[in-house]
Amino acid sequence: MVVRRKVDEQLDALHGKKEQGRLGGGQRRIDAQHERGKMTARERIDQLMDEGTFEELDAFVQHRSTEFGLADQKYLGDAVVTGYGKINGRLTFVFSQDFTVFGGSLSEAVGQKICKVMDLAANSGAPMVGLIDSGGARIQEGILSLASYADIFLRNVRSSGVIPQISVILGPAAGGATYSPALTDFIFMVRGMGQMYITGPDVIKSVTGEEVTHEELGGADAHTIKSGVAHFAHDNETDCLQQVRRLLSFLPQNNMEDPPRAVPQDDPGRRDADLLHVVPDSPNMPYDMLEVITRVADDGDFMQVQESFARNMVVGFARMDGRPVGIVGQQPQFMAGVLDIDASSKAARFVRFCDAFNIPLVTFIDVPGFMPGTSQEYGGIIRHGAKLIFAYAEATVPKISVLTRKAYGGAYIVMSSKGLRGDINLAWPTGEIAVMGAEGAVNIVQRGDIAASPQPEALRTRLIQEYQERFMNPYIAAGHGLIDDVIDPADTRPKIIRALEMLENKRETLPQKKHGSIPL
Ligand code: HXC
Repeated sequence: MVVRRKVDEQLDALHGKKEQGRLGGGQRRIDAQHERGKMTARERIDQLMDEGTFEELDAFVQHRSTEFGLADQKYLGDAVVTGYGKINGRLTFVFSQDFTVFGGSLSEAVGQKICKVMDLAANSGAPMVGLIDSGGARIQEGILSLASYADIFLRNVRSSGVIPQISVILGPAAGGATYSPALTDFIFMVRGMGQMYITGPDVIKSVTGEEVTHEELGGADAHTIKSGVAHFAHDNETDCLQQVRRLLSFLPQNNMEDPPRAVPQDDPGRRDADLLHVVPDSPNMPYDMLEVITRVADDGDFMQVQESFARNMVVGFARMDGRPVGIVGQQPQFMAGVLDIDASSKAARFVRFCDAFNIPLVTFIDVPGFMPGTSQEYGGIIRHGAKLIFAYAEATVPKISVLTRKAYGGAYIVMSSKGLRGDINLAWPTGEIAVMGAEGAVNIVQRGDIAASPQPEALRTRLIQEYQERFMNPYIAAGHGLIDDVIDPADTRPKIIRALEMLENKRETLPQKKHGSIPL
């Protein structure tokens, strides 16, 4: 009887402590969080994870600081909730910064909690999701807080290419603290809520005189449209966390696994005669490559990554007969699909992510070339364009391409060409592979003939037409084996699916090296 009562007391004390821990920095601060339209750290985890699967770790950890009167100000769990659970039925680790405790700031203890789940995630081969809402380094802890950031960065880098790492910015992320999300694979942001910057508006005003709001400087639109730092922008936390779940559904748990095959609903043999009419007759007319992609993919489902940045290039995830694939393609609707600095870096990073995680690449090509101009040259388009060549050349996952229209010049080589070990290169009859467009070619090669002609313009028009008829088609490349097949556009989906099946067990190795030296 006596023993029984003692256990009851102990259990009561445990439940009391857990209840207190769940209140974070207290009801007043929770209410303040809600009044700002923000969820608490725990509410976010509940929305992210499958119901009832979250197991919390380190709920009893507290900061160890005694300076600035902090000895009396302790909160169970400190400023982060950490643990593991399931997303879409698969193990996932999470940390969720608790703004109600010292503004979610990073103490040494918080850093250790985060590092513990990062280590568990890496060792168990499961994705790591960080929900960021933090005033940065815990000011009262000084160097110990800064040192904890280094511990996190190190783990971000060591886990890169081993497990998927996702950051969700749901509050402030300032200064060096932004570099942990920046080292992860994908950054999600909520408009009007998440803000990332190295130096805030006040510092900028005093240094450069510029006036800018927090949201203009580092909000979701700034980073998904202008800087390209973030990949997804959403209007509210619920949508944002649902999309994190969706993204994870395309990804393997780690780099030793194949991506998860869904039970296919869409017919793998489905032809689509309307694809014939997507590419306009005139070579300079735009069309929407997203229409091609969604017509070909399972159930028209395509999760576009960095949708609003470098819109001349489209990248994202889809499934083909249930198999996740990474899609890369030009978007002729924006700047004619030209390859510029931003498009090259965007696609290069995506290609490398897919290669690291065994996700086959399907590339849709309609590229008029690299972008001319001094701003591109001075900005280093040579260096940035080289990233995309590097990424495709190095990728050993199955690489399938479909040429819908133009593949001119160096840009032809870049886009998963046979020379960069593209496995299956298909072309539509509308495909044109050439060093440059007909007009440019004739003006250079036949400049003398045109100048000597009594009717130079008539001759120029005729020569351009002859050049187009002779060279602007896919059959010369196909005649050399640089294109494996010229296909009826209606057959694009079944052809890609058969190629993916054929390449399912593809094995290709690179020369042994510590790592390459990609032009960064
Ligand atoms: C300790 C902090 C804190 C911090 C906020 N708080 N930031 N406590 N260390 N870094 C506390 C506040 O004192 C307050 O406590 C509570 O959190 C909420 O903060 P408020 O200021 O009331 O909230 P808000 O008005 O929303 O402003 C949020 C904020 C602001 C923009 C984040 O608090 C802020 O500017 N904080 C300082 C940011 C900063 O300079 N951090 C250091 C960056 S350097 P009470 O008790 O009132 O609830 C850095 C280096 C990392 O991070 C380097 C890595 C290499």
